[in-house]
Amino acid sequence: MTMSRKLHIKTYGCQMNVYDSERMAEALTAAGYVATDTPEDADLILLNTCHIREKAAEKVYSELGRLKPFKAANPDLKIGVAGCVAQAEGAEILARQPLVDLVVGPQSYHRLPELEARARAGEKALDTDFPEEDKFDRLGGRPKAQRGPTAFLTVQEGCDKFCAFCVVPYTRGAEASRPVARVLEEARGLVDRGVVEITLLGQNVNAYHGAGPDGGAVSLAGLIGDLAKIDGLERIRYTTSHPNDMADDLIAAHAEVPELMPYLHLPVQSGSDRILKAMNRQHTADDYLRLIERIRAARPDILISGDFIVGFPGETDADFEATLALVREVRYGQCYSFKYSPRPGTPAAERDQVPEEVRAERLSRLQALLQAQQEAAQQAMVGRQVGVLFEKAGRLPGQLVGKSDHLQAVHVEAGEDWLGRIAPVEITAAAPNSLAGRLAVATDQPG
Ligand code: 5AD
Ligand code: SF4
Repeated sequence: MTMSRKLHIKTYGCQMNVYDSERMAEALTAAGYVATDTPEDADLILLNTCHIREKAAEKVYSELGRLKPFKAANPDLKIGVAGCVAQAEGAEILARQPLVDLVVGPQSYHRLPELEARARAGEKALDTDFPEEDKFDRLGGRPKAQRGPTAFLTVQEGCDKFCAFCVVPYTRGAEASRPVARVLEEARGLVDRGVVEITLLGQNVNAYHGAGPDGGAVSLAGLIGDLAKIDGLERIRYTTSHPNDMADDLIAAHAEVPELMPYLHLPVQSGSDRILKAMNRQHTADDYLRLIERIRAARPDILISGDFIVGFPGETDADFEATLALVREVRYGQCYSFKYSPRPGTPAAERDQVPEEVRAERLSRLQALLQAQQEAAQQAMVGRQVGVLFEKAGRLPGQLVGKSDHLQAVHVEAGEDWLGRIAPVEITAAAPNSLAGRLAVATDQPG
C-alpha cells in the first residue's frame, strides 16, 4: 500500500478564498492527498492568498520565508501559491522565492492536479490564465462525508465595475455566473451532507445572471427562489453586493422568501458624492440612502452591514464628514472600514495620496461611530425572539454557540442534540460582539 501524501492549505482573505480552498482540497483528495492541519507533516503546502489591501505580496513573501525549515526537513515537500497574489505577481513569485514550486491563479484551479504532478516531477509549474471553461465543473472530488451546518457556495465570480481602488477586476477577471443547474446540484449535495445554511458568494453576487433551464438568464432572486425549494435548506444568505445591482425582485425576495435571512452586506465606501464619483462607483450617496429605505420597507428588521474606505485620494475633511453623516443616517448593525491602500495597477494608486496620519485619524473616528452603532444594534436585540443555528460548543460547559438570523453570535445553554439545528431563542443580554439567550422551547431537546 502506498502512503497518501498530506496537504496543508493556509487561507487568507475573503470567504471566496475559504470556498476555493475547500474545493482545491477536494480536487487534491481525489488525486490521492489527505488533508492535515499542521504544515510540519505536509507534502504539499498551498498558500491561498489575498491581494485586496496593504502589503499583501510582502506578507506572502515573508510567510514563504518561514516555510524554509519545513522544506529542509522534508525534501519531498512542494510549496504552492494560489489566490489573488498568485494572479497579480505570477512568475515574479518563482523568480523571487526559489522555494516555490507551483503558482496558480484563481481561474485555473481545475488544473491544480496536473500542476501538482508537474511540480512533483521537478518542474516549476505556473498557470495564471483566464481560461474559458467553468473551473468548478472540472474540479474533481464530490465528497459524501457529513460536514458542518453552514457552507459557502460560489455562484458568481469576477467584476466588471472597476472601482478606482480595487484589484478584483484584475485578479479575478471578468464577471461570470455559474449555470443554475450546477448551483442547485451543488446545493443539494451540501444539504445531503448536513448543511442547513448556504451563503451564496460572488465578488458582485447580486449581478448574478446564470443560465437557466431554458437557456435564458436567471437573476439572483430567481436562484434564491429555486434554492428555497430544496428540502432541508433552511437559511440562505448572499455576499457581497454592489448597490446598483440591487434589483427590484431581489428586494422583494427579502419580503417574500422566509429562508432568505434578514442580513445584507451592502458596501457604499464613502458618503461624499465627489469621492463616490472619483471612485467610479456610479451612484450617489442619496441613491444609496433611498435604496436602504426600500430594502427596509421590504424587510423592516433587516440588519445592514457595509464597507468603508477612508483617505481615498482627494478626500477632504468635508468629504469625510459626509461619510459620517451617511453612517448616522443608515444606522449599521455591523461594518468593516479600512484606510485606503494604493493597489498597484489600479487608477487611484497614481493619484495624490492623503497623508497617513490623516487616514489613521479618520479611520479611528469612523470606527468609533460604527462601533457605537453595532453596540446599539446588539442591545436592540434584548427581549426579542430570533432563530439561532447552533454551530459548536460554547466556552462554558452545557453551552452552545450559534448564529442568529441576523448573523450575530449567540450563546445559549442547550443540549448537544441542538448542534446543526435551528431553535427559537429569546435574547437576554448583549455584549459588543455577542449575545446571550435562552431556548424558547418547552424542553432543551430538539423535537
Ligand atoms: N484600499 C482599502 N480598502 C479597499 N477595499 C478594496 N480595495 C481597497 C483598497 N485599495 C475594501 C473595500 C471593499 C472591501 C472588500 O475591501 O471596502 O468593499
Ligand atoms: Fe472591487 Fe466590488 Fe468595485 Fe468590483 S464592485 S471593483 S469587486 S469594490
